[in-house]
Amino acid sequence: MRKATAVTIRRAQAGDASTVRDLILALADHQNQADAVTVTDLEGMLSRPEIVYLIAERDGRPVGYVSWLERTSFWSGDEYLALDDLFVAESERGNGIGERLMHAAADAAKGKVIRWEVAEANVAAQRFYERIGARLVSKKICRWQPH
Ligand SMILES: CC(C)(COP(=O)(O)OP(=O)(O)OC[C@H]1O[C@@H](n2cnc3c(N)ncnc32)[C@H](O)[C@@H]1OP(=O)(O)O)[C@@H](O)C(=O)NCCC(=O)NCCS
Repeated sequence: MRKATAVTIRRAQAGDASTVRDLILALADHQNQADAVTVTDLEGMLSRPEIVYLIAERDGRPVGYVSWLERTSFWSGDEYLALDDLFVAESERGNGIGERLMHAAADAAKGKVIRWEVAEANVAAQRFYERIGARLVSKKICRWQPH
C-alpha cells in the first residue's frame, strides 16, 4: 500500500474553479452522471464563506476532494456541516486520502455534526464511512421540481 505522505489538503479558492470543475466531473462521470454537471459560476460559489471545498493534492496534482455547506438546524438551532461530495481519483484510492479528507472536514467542523447522503448501492463507501466511525441511518430522499 502506497503511503499518502506527499498528499496535502487545502481549501479551494475562486482561482481553482477549473480544477474544481474537473474533479466534480470525474466524480459525476464515475457515477455515470456527467450530464448533471451544469454549474456555471463555480468561481462565485468558491468565494462564499459558507461553501467549503477542500482539494487533496499529490505533489501539486489534484487527487481528490471533499465539499460541504454550513447549515443551521431549525430544531436545535445548532449549526452543522452538510457534506456534499467526497471523491478520490481511482488510481489514488486505498491510500488513506479519503480518510484524511474526512478528518480535515472533522477538524473544520470544530465539534459540529457532519451530515451527508450515500447511495444505497454504494456499499464500498458505506463500509468506509462506518470504518471511520459514522452512523448510517436509512431515509428516503425527496426531490420536487415545482412548476
Ligand atoms: C469512498 C472513497 C472516497 C474512499 O477514498 P479512499 O482514499 O480510497 O479511502 P481510504 O484509502 O481512506 O480508505 C479505503 C477504504 O475505502 C473503501 N473504498 C470504497 N470504495 C473504494 C474503491 N473504489 N477502491 C478502494 N477502496 C474503496 C474501502 O472499503 C477501503 O476500506 P478498507 O481499506 O477497509 O478496505 C473513494 O473510494 C471514492 O472516491 N469512491 C468513489 C466516489 C464515492 O463513492 N464517494 C462517496 C460518495 S457518498
